[in-house]
Order: sequence, then C-alpha cells, then structure tokens
Amino acid sequence: MLKEAFLFLSGNRLAKTVAMHAPGARSMALRFVAGESLDDAISAARALNKSGMTVSLDYLGESVHSKAEARDAADVYIGLMNRIAKEKLNANVSMKLTQMGQDIDDAFLRENAGRVLDCGKQHDMFVRLDMESSDYTDRTLDFFRNIWAEGYRNVGIVLQSYLFRSETDVSEANALLARVRLCKGAYKEPPEVAFPEKSDVDVNYVKLMQMLLTNGNYPGIATHDEAMIDAAKAFVKEHDIPNSAFEFQMLYGVRRDLQQQLVREGYNLRVYVPFGGAWYAYLMRRLAERPANVFFVANAIVRESPVGRLFGRKTQRK
Ligand code: FDA
Repeated sequence: MLKEAFLFLSGNRLAKTVAMHAPGARSMALRFVAGESLDDAISAARALNKSGMTVSLDYLGESVHSKAEARDAADVYIGLMNRIAKEKLNANVSMKLTQMGQDIDDAFLRENAGRVLDCGKQHDMFVRLDMESSDYTDRTLDFFRNIWAEGYRNVGIVLQSYLFRSETDVSEANALLARVRLCKGAYKEPPEVAFPEKSDVDVNYVKLMQMLLTNGNYPGIATHDEAMIDAAKAFVKEHDIPNSAFEFQMLYGVRRDLQQQLVREGYNLRVYVPFGGAWYAYLMRRLAERPANVFFVANAIVRESPVGRLFGRKTQRK
C-alpha cells in the first residue's frame, strides 16, 4: 500500500514541487545521494574506492523533454567521465535514456547518448544503460542492439526479474555476450507484464542470475536481498565460478554493512552512486522499496526543524 503510494508520488509533479521545497527534504535525499555537485560525486567515488569498492556514477535525471536539457545532461556525463579518467578512479557510469532524449526522437537520442558512449570509448570506460519502466523496455533494448551492431562494446544493459519477458532478454544478451546488471525492478508495473508477487520476482531473480552466471559476461548481481546474495554465493561455489567472473552491486547508502562484508569476503562489489539536483523521483523509489526509510526521513526533518536543532544542542551539552 505504502509502496504503491510512493511509486505514484514518484511521477507526480505537484508532490515533486512540494517535496523539493520542503524543509529537510534535501538532507533526507542525502541518505541515498552523494550530493548535488560533480565534486561531491568524485569525493564519494574516491572514498568508496579506498574501501575496496568500485563505483558506477549516475547523474540524476529522467523524463527529459527538452533537447537543451538532454544535451546538458550528456555534457555533465562527459565532464564526469573525463574527471574519472583524470583522477584514475575505479568507476564507470550509469545513465537513463529518457534523460538523453528518448522521449524526444530517436535520431536525437542516438546523437546525444552517442556522445557519452564515444567519450566512454575514448577512455575505455563502461556505460550502463539503466532500465526504466516497461513502457521503455523495448525502446531501450532496441537502442542497445543498434549500438551493439554498430560495434560499441563499452555498453551494457539492465534487466528486471519482475518482468515476464526478462528470461528471453537474458538469453539474447547472453548470446551476444553483452554485460547485464540484474535487478528486481523499481517501477509500478501492471500484472499483464510483471509478477505481482514478491516471491515470484525472487524465484525469477535466482533463475536469471544462474543463467547469467553460467553463460553471461561479467554480470552485475544488483540486490540488497541476503537471500539472493546467498543463492549467488552458493551457485558460484557449486559451479566453480571464480569471483572475478561477476560482481555484486548495491545502491549508495543502502546496507553499507552488507557492502563491507562482501568486500571482506573477497567479492567484487560496485556501489551505484547517484548525484545531482534531480533527486526527487529516485528518492521516492527508494522509499517505496523500504517504507521504513520514511522514519529516517522524518528523523532528518525533525533534526533540521528549529525544535529539533534546540533539542540537538541540549543533547550535545550532556
Ligand atoms: P528487496 O526489495 O527485496 O530488498 C531486500 C532488502 O534490502 C530489504 O529487506 C532491505 O533490508 C534492503 N533494501 C532494499 N531496498 C532498500 C532501500 N531503498 N533502503 C533501505 N534498505 C533497502 N531498478 C530498475 O528498475 N532499473 C535499474 O536500472 C536499477 N538499477 C539498480 C542498480 C543497482 C546497483 C541496484 C542495487 C538496484 C537497482 N535497481 C534498479 C533497483 C532494484 O530494481 C530494486 O528496486 C532495489 O534494488 C530493491 O530490491 P532488492 O533486490 O534490494 O530486494
């Protein structure tokens, strides 16, 4: 119920305007977002690299309908990649095609997203195409196939285990030896296209993960679910798959304990680090995944309010 409410709010303009101006909202977003500037993103990546984790940086933004805005987003990505290369960070980037102009027109999307892919090629840097709602699955995979046919190899996709179609998409990606990030899926989907029950999503996740670990190319096992992680660990052990053949992936600010534990155990762990001012929809999806996050958020708001600050000062004096 709460999950549905947050997913609804993620696409609601009025709620977005209210939230972006609400006191404390920004600090609440900072639980899941590295900051608003490129420097914030680079500092977060540097710190994560120091603790043995690799990074995928995401410049927040989606559903862009103006060419100027989409071009600006591509420019930020190019600046970001140049900076990653200059600072020799162990990082790549993740981008959403609706931020690059997918809702504008195909030729523009090809040209604009192509600039990011070319910059990646120049630096030998990988670019992940995030997957958005099922309205975009076909168009995103078509874009990817075309780019792949043109010879780009520094690009990979995301497939979601809540979609019925994903088993076919995993097989096709494996046939190309394309790199796949497997996640459960974060959008509100109708029962015609996606498993409504979490237990079915989880069963499918394990099935697709095993397909990717057996026949795929360096899959990204993106989840914070310990049952999924344990299933992956058991499968690779049983099939003698080396740790170098795959990576776990988790979101910035989510289950940091588990992230550190996986690194200690010798697994590759990549953290997805979003940054930028357009954090609203991203935050709503994170709240939908775990409504208990609302308490962290409420706590942040209370701490920033005048009463909270007074209480904070009093507590410090103790
Ligand atoms: P699940 O939702 O079952 O959660 C398992 C446990 O993890 C929870 O009980 C809780 O302990 C913890 N947890 C999960 N989410 C949390 C949160 N927000 N805050 C605090 N704790 C949380 N989706 C998509 O549609 N397209 C995409 O491109 C991507 N990309 C992506 C990249 C990476 C690196 C990750 C990790 C995830 C994505 N996702 C995504 C999001 C994904 O689809 C999914 O919504 C979330 O990862 C939550 O699902 P889990 O697999 O973690 O399991």
